[in-house]
Amino acid sequence: MPVAVILGGHWGDEGKGKVIDLLAGRFEYNVRYSGGANAGHTVVNEYGSFALHQVPSGVFHNGMTAMLAAGVVVDPEALLAEIEELEGRGVDLTRFYISERAHIVLPHHKLLDKAEEERRGDARLGTTGKGIGPAYSDKAARDGVRMGDLLEPSERDRSILRAARAGAARLADLHCSDAVAPEEVVARAARWADVLRPRICDVERHLRSAVARGASVLLEGAQGALLDIDAGSYPFVTSSSTGVAGACASAGIPPRAVDSVVAVLHSYMTRVGAGPFPTELHDEVGRIIQDRGAEFGTTTGRRRRCGWFDALASRYVMEVNGVTSAVLTKLDVLDGLETVKVCVAYELDGKRIEHMPASATVIAKVSPVYEEMPGWPEGSMQARRWEDLHPRAQEYVRRIEELLGVPVSLLSVGPARDQTIQLRDPLAAN
Ligand code: IMP
Repeated sequence: MPVAVILGGHWGDEGKGKVIDLLAGRFEYNVRYSGGANAGHTVVNEYGSFALHQVPSGVFHNGMTAMLAAGVVVDPEALLAEIEELEGRGVDLTRFYISERAHIVLPHHKLLDKAEEERRGDARLGTTGKGIGPAYSDKAARDGVRMGDLLEPSERDRSILRAARAGAARLADLHCSDAVAPEEVVARAARWADVLRPRICDVERHLRSAVARGASVLLEGAQGALLDIDAGSYPFVTSSSTGVAGACASAGIPPRAVDSVVAVLHSYMTRVGAGPFPTELHDEVGRIIQDRGAEFGTTTGRRRRCGWFDALASRYVMEVNGVTSAVLTKLDVLDGLETVKVCVAYELDGKRIEHMPASATVIAKVSPVYEEMPGWPEGSMQARRWEDLHPRAQEYVRRIEELLGVPVSLLSVGPARDQTIQLRDPLAAN
């Protein structure tokens, strides 16, 4: 149990926030390891209902040390607003820290994100517009500014000015005239430094010592494993490593330290933004799932595309990430459908395939091979034990488990903490 990774098993929005909030009480540390303000983790608890974008979802638990690790890109402006909101609602953030290695999302990154999407035209990726791609591009190009740079005034002013000027020039190339004046960005950065200084530290060194003394650490992914920059359907991916390998690289801890990997999966599939989606539904059933599941982006408010459970894509995620247990969320959304379908393979050029193709163009050409199962009546939302579920709902879950090759540990049947059915301990190693 000491080190667990919780990741999104599909294209994001699977309900990680709820699962992390449920399990966080068993951990001393909760660390966000990837992405930035593009994430939207929904948590409903005694403090109210929250859409967390950068602060880790386990922050509501007393005594929790919450951290943003090196692999996160931090939007300081948005983070300050989030901290203010959480503290205003009574959440204790005294033990919330940010890695000095984490890169900063500067104002021009957000403008570039939008301008580049416009330039892509019909080939746009459907990004969240939060500056994620441009910030990670600068990081990889070694032109980025890190949170640690905020701490030393002359280094801060020099690096922010250089980055903001370069950003303004790139925006001008894209005919965008909204760039914030570089001197203004320098002034804003001085304020970020004043407020965030006590929180910026060597998070990774701290985590390694914590792991060495056997402390329990929950590594929280953002987005989903199918949006991973390497494993996903490039270029329709996010710009970070969303899987378990990214968790270790970001938190600065050895992969051998990870004891359990929990993947959170919808009981169907959703995707926001562009990119291939073999089981996408364009019919009435898709609309029912969309409405009943309230499938709107937490960060952007966009309608999420909905489709049948894709066991081939999900099994791929299990394999790439060495998943030890799967959590299925929103099972109740499928209540009342006459039949339900699960995609067990793809058909490509008349041949059945059972692996995830590397190319987005090829994935866009496959057709799903379905198994159809009878549906079950309403009532899953009221179930609290396995025995309370309709036998046909049980059959659906067992079939998915079989296809994943990984045990299903939790079923979520509603947003509240108690709307959960436990089949086994999700953190138990296999
Ligand atoms: P970006 O991460 O904003 O660059 O967006 C790249 C792709 O990832 C787009 O298809 C987004 O819709 C998708 N994406 C990014 N963050 C999330 C998320 O938290 N949930 C679901 N999709 C996301």
